[in-house]
Amino acid sequence: MTPVTLQLERIDKVYNPRGSRPVHAVRAMSMQLHKGEIGALLGSSGCGKTSTLRMIAGFESVSNGTITLSGRAIQDEPPARRNVAMAFEGYSLYPPLTVRENIAFALKARGRDPDGTSAKVKSIAELLEIDDILERRPSALSGGQQQRAGLARSLVRDADLYLLDEPMGQLEPRLRAMLRGRIKHYIKERGLTVILVTHDQTEANALADRIAVMEDGVLQQFGSPEILRDRPANRFVGAFIGEPPMNLLDADVEALDGGIRFALAGAVSLDFRSEAMAPGARDAALALGHVIVGVRPHALKLVREGLPARVVANQWIGDQSHVAVSFAGQTIVVVEHERVRLGSGEEVALAVEAKDLHVFDSLNGAALSHGGELA
Ligand SMILES: Nc1ncnc2c1ncn2[C@@H]1O[C@H](COP(=O)(O)OP(=O)(O)OP(=O)(O)O)[C@@H](O)[C@H]1O
Ligand SMILES: [Mg+2]
Repeated sequence: MTPVTLQLERIDKVYNPRGSRPVHAVRAMSMQLHKGEIGALLGSSGCGKTSTLRMIAGFESVSNGTITLSGRAIQDEPPARRNVAMAFEGYSLYPPLTVRENIAFALKARGRDPDGTSAKVKSIAELLEIDDILERRPSALSGGQQQRAGLARSLVRDADLYLLDEPMGQLEPRLRAMLRGRIKHYIKERGLTVILVTHDQTEANALADRIAVMEDGVLQQFGSPEILRDRPANRFVGAFIGEPPMNLLDADVEALDGGIRFALAGAVSLDFRSEAMAPGARDAALALGHVIVGVRPHALKLVREGLPARVVANQWIGDQSHVAVSFAGQTIVVVEHERVRLGSGEEVALAVEAKDLHVFDSLNGAALSHGGELA
């Protein structure tokens, strides 16, 4: 087993705890990151990503809980003693130093030989395409250049853990996609343990081994991109991961002779034979009686004969058609990989297979089953 490098045990962050408006930014967050693993924190603005990183780095106190890094409890240690390298969301270069001096600073401060330092600075600067601006000072750099210099400065260090807060937020998409691949290679080659913060799903999927989805200070699920896609722990993760988002429909569950029915609004129903769902999954849905059924747009199909729907809008986005249809009293989206020539108002038919069904508890949102298997 790969050793655990970082362990968060029920950490909380409350800002202004005794003030008139306390903010509970992170709630009972627990997770483990293994040595050499890249974890991503993904979530909407204000969900607590930066607060979590700053507690790990030591720039914010932990209100509750423990943080263990390489076997040491670090939550009461000052930042400099934690051996954690952090690239900040904002820019944090030393203004009087050149980019080269900024990058070398962390290494020099630790008494490395100057020759080794300059080789390291050169190679990280080439990797991040900033080797042509090494002699400039931060005030003469664009936002994207400053960001890459900050990233270079953290990655070049020797640390137990690297915390990267939106490290490529300022870069244009093309450069970002290119650097993503290079940075991943650099991290994996050296076996670095990394937490990356992002609100870009593509970036999280491309870089991370596992993604922690956060909402409102609460960790919703920590799993590989495949697990988040195929087995979302709850309705929030199901809807949050994937583009376009998962379609969600309210359903009453009824037993059929030899099958199960999900009765939707507008007298539409999804009927499946018993064999399509494991007994436990079927029983769980029947026991609740009312559930939310989720189907990803990519899993829905337009067919000749099937469930009745009507086209609301149809966009070709270059490599796929996004067809919005009115179905069972709401608008849902179907993705087709061929160009679909359909105009609004046209009648179409849909097919849904049990293997593509996600069933959630309608009250607490917890997943009951995925593809007919118990969650
Ligand atoms: N110093 C502070 N004092 C009070 N509240 C704060 C402080 N810093 C952050 N918060 C609040 O804590 C919550 C979490 O903020 P945080 O910066 O961790 O979010 P984030 O997920 O990094 O968001 P973003 O994607 O916008 O960077 C927010 O509601 C924020 O307003
Ligand atoms: Mg942030």
